Amino acid sequence: MKIAVVGTGYVGLVTGVCLAEVNHDVICIDTDLQKIKNMEQGISPIYEPGLEELMVKNINKGNLKFTNIHVEGFKNAEVIIIAVGTPQMPDGSANLQYIEAVAKSIAEYVTKDVIVVTKSTVPVGTNDFVRQVILDNLKCDVNVKVASNPEFLREGSAIVDTFQGDRIVIGTQDEETASILEMMYEPFGLPIFKTDIYSSEMIKYASNAFLATKISFINEVSNICEKLGANVEDVANGMGFDNRIGRAFLNAGIGYGGSCFPKDTHALVQIAGGVHHDFELLKSVIEVNNKQQRLLVDKIKARFENPEGKTVAMLGLAFKPNTDDMREAASSVLARELIQLGMKVIAYDPIAIENAKTQLPQQVIYANSSEEALKQSDFALIVTEWDEFKQMDLGKLQEWLTEPILFDGRNCFTLEQAKNAGIEYHSMGRPS
Ligand code: UGA
Repeated sequence: MKIAVVGTGYVGLVTGVCLAEVNHDVICIDTDLQKIKNMEQGISPIYEPGLEELMVKNINKGNLKFTNIHVEGFKNAEVIIIAVGTPQMPDGSANLQYIEAVAKSIAEYVTKDVIVVTKSTVPVGTNDFVRQVILDNLKCDVNVKVASNPEFLREGSAIVDTFQGDRIVIGTQDEETASILEMMYEPFGLPIFKTDIYSSEMIKYASNAFLATKISFINEVSNICEKLGANVEDVANGMGFDNRIGRAFLNAGIGYGGSCFPKDTHALVQIAGGVHHDFELLKSVIEVNNKQQRLLVDKIKARFENPEGKTVAMLGLAFKPNTDDMREAASSVLARELIQLGMKVIAYDPIAIENAKTQLPQQVIYANSSEEALKQSDFALIVTEWDEFKQMDLGKLQEWLTEPILFDGRNCFTLEQAKNAGIEYHSMGRPS
């Protein structure tokens, strides 16, 4: 099948590459010429394990092309996938200006019947808007169908999630469009759930909001566990045996970040507000998360009478491991607050440092390794659970830090490991 994908962020590029891998003829379109030139050489604009290998393989196979010229991308396409960003507006709603621009460009350049698939996360009703913009601007007498096909991949495991996802959701107005898209996805061998367009658009928001709710729920339980002397990890494990609950997304920590949960929870509150529904539960989820992101600061303040002048090693900056993405990362909130308290922050992350420099306060100093950060610090924080931190020899903290104290925002170690290392260990929802 001939497929054009507009937008080469996480969703667009991974989708394009994976569709090429199952032998579709894919062209990825982006307005950024430098990005296009790099991608033609197999250089990915984002860090994502396994992505560049698949890009190179499919470019060489002839199934994957790139262009910054829309007309070239659209001319042969049977399916056009919109995967541009829908950033958050100041009021929390999704900004649809990039979606609108793509719809106009499709209307201008398509010369044959086409299915336009919205993969970007968009408010319910956006596909109606896309259809209308296309119809209002169409230059040729062709038949354009729209479909909703939300994405469920996670950064850091995007390729695996695409090939081994739990489901593919297709929302259409007619069975014929649904069957063409079903054929497109057939090689993935995944369960396909077909529904109407509005429900499909809602499935995406409801799924992300539910996962965010699980996280805020366990974080609240974690905070109570801490006060009662219970262990949230055991609580989550015990809950997780119940299939109705499930163990996934019950890891207590310093809250969720990234480009999706924060944006999508706010957007769903807005969507609900648009139909005069006050989504109180989701508002609380957001509120709990905001508090949770700065919890380590409270713990530091409770531990040190006067933290001013202390140097802290901040290990991990990305919003989660295996990505260089700093969007809505807890490290930003923490670095800002620690500096305001008069502390010196020495930060290290295996790959997110360059992105972090654009987000963190200027006063933050960057180290080339965790060892380098720790050796210059009084005590340490773990903000992102990278494997290299989990594998760290905790005993070394006695030697490297002025005070062997570790605040672990991601529960990377067992209480026994910390005890054996002889360090003072403050983790999340577990006895100190
Ligand atoms: C999330 C969803 O998991 C994907 O299904 C969805 O497609 C994607 O958003 C999207 O809408 O594009 P992502 O944001 O890449 O994916 O990452 P997650 O692995 O879901 O983690 C999100 C945040 O939740 C991270 O900050 C992570 O540290 C936090 N988290 C996750 C927890 O604090 N506890 C957990 O148990 C799980």
